[in-house]
Amino acid sequence: MPEEIYSPGLEGVIAGETAISTVSGGLSYRGYSIENLARYGTFEEVAYLLLYGELPNAEQLDEFRKRLDAASQVPPAIIEAIRHFPPTALPMDVLRSGASMLAHWDPEIGDNSHEANIRKAERLLAQLPIVMAAHHRLKQGKEPVAPEAGRSLAANCLNMLFRADPSPGHEKAMDVSLILYAEHEYNASTFTARVVVSTLADLHSGIVAAIGALKGPLHGGANEKVMDVLGAVGKKENAEKWIRDALARKQKIMGFGHRVYKDGDPRAVYLKELCNELAKETGNEGLEVTADVIQRVIWEEKKLPPNLDWPSGRLYHYMNLPVELYTPLFVLSRTAGWAAHIIEQLDNNRLIRPRARYIGSEPRAWKPLAKR
Ligand code: ACO
Repeated sequence: MPEEIYSPGLEGVIAGETAISTVSGGLSYRGYSIENLARYGTFEEVAYLLLYGELPNAEQLDEFRKRLDAASQVPPAIIEAIRHFPPTALPMDVLRSGASMLAHWDPEIGDNSHEANIRKAERLLAQLPIVMAAHHRLKQGKEPVAPEAGRSLAANCLNMLFRADPSPGHEKAMDVSLILYAEHEYNASTFTARVVVSTLADLHSGIVAAIGALKGPLHGGANEKVMDVLGAVGKKENAEKWIRDALARKQKIMGFGHRVYKDGDPRAVYLKELCNELAKETGNEGLEVTADVIQRVIWEEKKLPPNLDWPSGRLYHYMNLPVELYTPLFVLSRTAGWAAHIIEQLDNNRLIRPRARYIGSEPRAWKPLAKR
């Protein structure tokens, strides 16, 4: 038995190996820096890179896009089920149920091979945006909009939500946010997915569990809560006092801090530029100034840098996206990373089963019911 090691929250623990991404020396996916991927690539190229290990050439990319287009349909029974969901159903929960329901219709649900899992991952990448957009429209009493072949996933998402061609600026902003959200090593949701499939459960089960893990405000849910912070702060003149008071009360400010990045999240640095541009384009410079004050004060008080959710929450706000869709958009993108990890786990699987340090009572004698 190895020496007992305990690290609360598994901080600093190497829980496995991966060739998919690293946060060492900046964040890179399969050796490519996220700055280069975001600047020169598209989400489709990044998803292909994550799933197949290499960037696609032109022909491979074209074939990949065609496969995504062909998979861009959801069984009518699922759309019908969504129609009957209560109006209180949250989009994150609908996506979780959607991923679970899609498993019932997946033609390869019983095949857990590497090749079948790549095909299942491609199908989910195409189908989950349809589930998210259909639920959003049905909730407003509108009929779903079908995806259009030949469009990027970013453009299709926006078109399916708003039935309007997105501007090139909005399509680019969505695409970059999807690239930055696509993968992040052994974060909580990815680790969840790996634990699930390490029992040899199927890919859909891993994705469903990962969506559940992403929902929490300490993880993906933070991008929605960022807007609560900005709303509560209000005018930029209030920002400094509001944040200092909140920190004095030990309140957690969503969009700040990270388990791994203690000096700064490179994704947040990159997205901030785009956020500034979009803020100018949409007349939201004031909110950027408030955000900068908040960022400065949190650094002064706690030495905490912003994480990706801090600029992405604002970016989505400038694109007029409903707040409750911010974390679901994260799901659509991270599905590529989750699937890559699920496949990597299954390619070289060992059941993930750590130990717990027991802190319960000493051995006790059984007490009959009448004597308790
Ligand atoms: N606001 C205020 N204080 C914070 C914050 C925050 N956002 N984050 C950490 N701290 C404080 C902690 O309270 C603690 O203070 P203390 O030493 O006085 O007790 C100190 O900073 C160290 O923080 P830890 O809790 O040890 O950090 P941990 O690594 O456990 O948590 C986490 C990381 C969960 C991300 C945390 O920073 C947090 O809750 N942030 C807000 C939620 C958030 O933005 N999540 C998104 C993560 S990134 C992503 O999923 C894309």
